[in-house]
Amino acid sequence: MAGNTAAPEQARWSSKAAFVLAATGSAVGLGNLWRFPTEAGSNGGGAFVLLYVLCVVLIALPLLLAESLIGRHGQRSTIGSAVYLARQSGASPAWSLLAIVGLIANTAILTFYCVVAGWVIYFVGTSAADLIGAMGAGEPLRGAYGAQPVEQIQQMMPALFANPYLLVGLQLAFVVVTVWIVARGVKGGIEMAATWLMPAFFFLLIGITIYAAIIGDFAAAVTFLFTPDFERALQPGVLSAALGQAFFSLSLGGGAMIAFADTGVAIIAGLAIFPIVFSVGMEPNAGPTLMFQTLPSAFHAMPGGAIVGLLFFVLALFAALTSSVSLLEISVSWVKEKFGVSRGKAAIGIGVLVFLIGLLSALSFNVLADQRPIPFIPGFENATWFDAIDGVTGKLLLPLSGLITAIFIGWVADRKLVDAETGLSGGGLAAWRFLIAWLCPLAVFAILVIGLFPQLLP
Ligand code: TRP
Repeated sequence: MAGNTAAPEQARWSSKAAFVLAATGSAVGLGNLWRFPTEAGSNGGGAFVLLYVLCVVLIALPLLLAESLIGRHGQRSTIGSAVYLARQSGASPAWSLLAIVGLIANTAILTFYCVVAGWVIYFVGTSAADLIGAMGAGEPLRGAYGAQPVEQIQQMMPALFANPYLLVGLQLAFVVVTVWIVARGVKGGIEMAATWLMPAFFFLLIGITIYAAIIGDFAAAVTFLFTPDFERALQPGVLSAALGQAFFSLSLGGGAMIAFADTGVAIIAGLAIFPIVFSVGMEPNAGPTLMFQTLPSAFHAMPGGAIVGLLFFVLALFAALTSSVSLLEISVSWVKEKFGVSRGKAAIGIGVLVFLIGLLSALSFNVLADQRPIPFIPGFENATWFDAIDGVTGKLLLPLSGLITAIFIGWVADRKLVDAETGLSGGGLAAWRFLIAWLCPLAVFAILVIGLFPQLLP
C-alpha cells in the first residue's frame, strides 16, 4: 500500500524492511494459493500461465510502479494522492477516477475474499480437530483426516457448502478480525505477521510442493502448467482471465507492490496443487474448490500430515489476513481523510457493508446457487454472484483502473515530477516510459474490448 504508508497523520511503518514485508504480505494471499490454481485450471493451464506471466511483466509491473509513485508523491489515500498529482500537473482532478475505480474494485474484492478466507478457517478447524484426535490415539505423526478415503476428503467442501449458517458465520468471523486489526492501526500485528509468518509460510509451501512432487503426478502438473497450447492462448476468455489474475495477485488498484515474489509464490502453489490434482484423478477445472479438495488429500497421505495440514491452513489464514487488512485499509484511509471520521468508525462502517455484500458470495454455493445476476455481459452468462463479483472486479474494473492510470501517468501528469518519483534513469526509465505510455494502455484496452466482444476475434 504505497499509497498510505507515510502520511503524517497516518500510522507509519517502523522501518523500510517492515514496509517491504508488509507490501509482500498484502500481495501474497489467497490470490496466489487459491485464485491462481483455480484460474490456471479453468483456463487450460500452460496457455494461461504464459499469458499471466507476460501480463505481470509487461503490463502489471509498469502499472504498479505508476501507482506507487502516485502514492509516494501524494502521501495520502489513493484517491487523495491521485487528486494531488493531477492538481500539481495542472490536470483535472477527475483523473482520480483511476483510484475511485480501484477503490470500488478492491472493496468489492474484499467482500468475497472474506468468504474464501472463511473456508480456510473451516479447514483450520477440521485440521485442528483431526490433530487432536490423532494425538488422542497416540499417533500425532499420522496423515491427516484419519482413515477416510480420498473421495470423502474431497466431499468436505460440498458438505461445507450445504451449511449456509456455518459459511456465513465463518465469513463474519473473518470480517470481524480484519476490521479489528484495521481499526487499531497498521502497525504492530500486521508487521509481526508479515515479518515472521510470511517467511514461515513460504518455506512450508516449498516443503509441501516437494512432497506433492514426490507423491503426486509431478510430470503431469509440469506439462499442464508449462506447455502452452497456443490455440488455447488465443481464446479471448483466457487472455482476460490472465490479465485479471495478474492485477488481482499484485493487488493493483490498491497501490501495493513486490511483483516477482508474488508471481513466484503463485507458481509454487500451482506446483503444490496440480501434482495432487492429477494423481487423485480430479479435473483441473474444478473451480474455486480446487485448492480445498486437493491439499487435504496430500495431507492425508503425508506422514505427519495431521500437523503439516493444520500448520498450512493456519499460515494460509495469516496470508489472507495480511491481504484483507490492506484491502480494507484502502477505503478506510480514504473515508477518514474525506469525512474526518475516526479510523475505528470507518473500519466498522465499511466492514458492515463488506459483510452484507459478501453474503451474496457466501450464499452463491447454496441458497443463491441458481441466481445469474449479469447474464447480459458476455462471458458471465453462467456466473453466480460469487463468479460475477470476482470476474467483474478482476477482468473489468481493475483493468479499467489500470487503463486510466496508464493514460494519466503516461500522457497527462507532469513529466518531470513523474520521472523523478520513479527513481529510474537512462534505459530503465525509457523502457518504463514506453510500456506505461504505449503498451499498457493499448494492450489493456484491447484485452478489455476482446473480453467484452469476443465475436470480434476471427
Ligand atoms: N493480492 C491479494 C492476494 O493475492 C489480494 C488483493 C487484491 C489485494 N487487490 C488487493 C490486497 C489490494 C491488497 C490490496 O490475495
